[in-house]
Amino acid sequence: MFSRYKKSGKSKPKLVELSEAAAKQAPEPQTPPKVQRRASGTPAQVVPMNKEKKRKERLSEIKVELHKRLLDDLNLSALETASEADLRAEISAIAAEALEEMSVVLNREERATLNQELYDEVVGLGPLEPLLKDDTVNDILVNGPHQVFVERNGKLELTDTTFKDEKHLLRIIDKIVSAVGRRVDESNPYVDARLADGSRFNAMVPPIAVDGSLVSIRKFKKEKLSVDDLVRFGAFTEEMAAYLQAAVATRLNIIVSGGTGSGKTTTLNALSSFIDDSERILTIEDTAELQLQQTHVGRMESRPPNVEGKGAVTQRDCLRNALRMRPDRIIVGETRGEEVIDMLQAMNTGHDGSMTTIHANSARDAVSRLENMIAMAGIEMPIKAVRSQIASAVNLIVQASRLQDGSRRMVSITEITGMEGDVISMQEVFRYQRVGLTPDNKIIGHFTATGVRSHFSERFKMWGYDLPASIFEPFEGEQR
Ligand SMILES: Nc1ncnc2c1ncn2[C@@H]1O[C@H](COP(=O)(O)OP(=O)(O)OP(=O)(O)O)[C@@H](O)[C@H]1O
Ligand SMILES: [Mg+2]
Repeated sequence: MFSRYKKSGKSKPKLVELSEAAAKQAPEPQTPPKVQRRASGTPAQVVPMNKEKKRKERLSEIKVELHKRLLDDLNLSALETASEADLRAEISAIAAEALEEMSVVLNREERATLNQELYDEVVGLGPLEPLLKDDTVNDILVNGPHQVFVERNGKLELTDTTFKDEKHLLRIIDKIVSAVGRRVDESNPYVDARLADGSRFNAMVPPIAVDGSLVSIRKFKKEKLSVDDLVRFGAFTEEMAAYLQAAVATRLNIIVSGGTGSGKTTTLNALSSFIDDSERILTIEDTAELQLQQTHVGRMESRPPNVEGKGAVTQRDCLRNALRMRPDRIIVGETRGEEVIDMLQAMNTGHDGSMTTIHANSARDAVSRLENMIAMAGIEMPIKAVRSQIASAVNLIVQASRLQDGSRRMVSITEITGMEGDVISMQEVFRYQRVGLTPDNKIIGHFTATGVRSHFSERFKMWGYDLPASIFEPFEGEQR
């Protein structure tokens, strides 16, 4: 029945070896294990826990062995054309046969879990698969085969997911990168890729990764957080949203600044929803993450060089080409290198309303980062000239931050108003004011306008965005 996917003429699995291996792994205790006693004298729950642990270990050994057999027995080239149902049936048949040979009896639930895990090993990313399917997980971070962290609600948690060993982890990494035509090995020890579901993937393997391969996955969210969602989650207020809407619609050039995982891309994506549907938008990213809702969007993704060091297409190449593609707006996922020159030039020469993100901890810091990037790109210009380029290109810096309680908030919205002498002048219009901590370490604070009049009020008004003055009044309510 399953012969389509089963290799023909395979030798019988090595039964004896396997039973021996399994027996070696999980010897039945000859004498009852020592029971630790509590002070009161009642036995603690050590025995069942030990048993449970042993059984788990044994199951995981069986799984590894079965997986090996599956790879031997399955006709891997036929897998691509196999339907999911056929493949599942095939896997469960091979597993059942092997379990019987090994005289291992599993209950229905264990069998289902085992079959699912085997299926994940064969077609998916093994132990990572349940985490990839778990919608509450944002990031998956693997530090060698025995430590997998996830980020939920802005907080990192250690999971009980592990790989059998480094070889197992490397096999999964290899599966991912070879699917996108890349290679990772000693001479190419790190790689960026995009998973089939759109998730962003980075891996670094030994010897550069000292204690085993390091993997970072930013899960792709099909449903990107909208402005309404972000307001609901307390990332910013409705008033700030109204201000941002006016800023985007009136084509201010905006930089979203923030630390790693602070919500920059999410904010950029949400801001883009304020762009009019009639505009032609070009997006440029190293890993395509943005999901714009507009009809007229051209997406570009840069490409690193291939194994021979050829064929690279940088963000800068894409950006230069984009300028010849009649864009109304250009959105660069993250400015981190020499493309900064072209980005600023584009912002200064008629492609206003462009947006990007930058890795920085405050609005001031974002400007310094821009200056540094310009210097690193080899442009020799007096600092004053550099600053005036920046001041005339960038109108608004929105600061995203992941606070210590895991909440992500837009902690500041700052306008760039021009130059004063050699210094870029800025004014903060909105900020998140922290006032304290609850006993369970939740941050108490509120958003507030700073009370300054927006530098762009006239512009907003002329474009039909007559924001009520109350938006700019400082907060006077209850602490939240
Ligand atoms: N305000 C928010 N509330 C809840 N979750 C959020 C919020 N903003 C972002 N997230 C989630 O946090 C994760 C990180 O967000 P995002 O990718 O936007 O960060 P980033 O700053 O672009 O990260 P990186 O520096 O790695 O590019 C995502 O899974 C996203 O869905
Ligand atoms: Mg990002």
